[in-house]
Amino acid sequence: MAWATRLQFGELVRTKFVTAASELGRNVLVHGRGGTMVIQEILAGGREALQLVFEDHGPGIADVQRAMTDGFSTANSMGLGLGGAQRLVNEFSLESVPGQGTKVTVTQWKKR
Ligand SMILES: Nc1ncnc2c1ncn2[C@@H]1O[C@H](COP(=O)(O)OP(=O)(O)O)[C@@H](O)[C@H]1O
Ligand SMILES: [Mg+2]
Repeated sequence: MAWATRLQFGELVRTKFVTAASELGRNVLVHGRGGTMVIQEILAGGREALQLVFEDHGPGIADVQRAMTDGFSTANSMGLGLGGAQRLVNEFSLESVPGQGTKVTVTQWKKR
């Protein structure tokens, strides 16, 4: 949580962001055969944000729209990780190439 505290996010935002991170981290391990998470602080248009980039070189996602749908899972689990994570952060982007891997970036902007 220390990294989420650095930008002085409030407790609710912090909890949401860490929950999203935990779902995405779990996906990297469970579906992506392991990978990396990079934490970066970005500055754009005079605003600061905390950004997490999850990357793996696993099987990738054939149908991203379907994978984002609540309840869809290829692992017989809840299927709420991606959709849930998207709802918990300011910005969410997913790039995936079947056979090559998946990259998910989540961003939380600091209030001015
Ligand atoms: N990093 C990943 N690599 C490959 N497939 C993934 C990855 N993350 C998610 N998926 C696919 O998207 C589906 C939905 O993910 P998610 O919403 O987190 O649900 P769950 O993890 O419960 O299956 C997964 O079942 C899997 O098929
Ligand atoms: Mg998941």
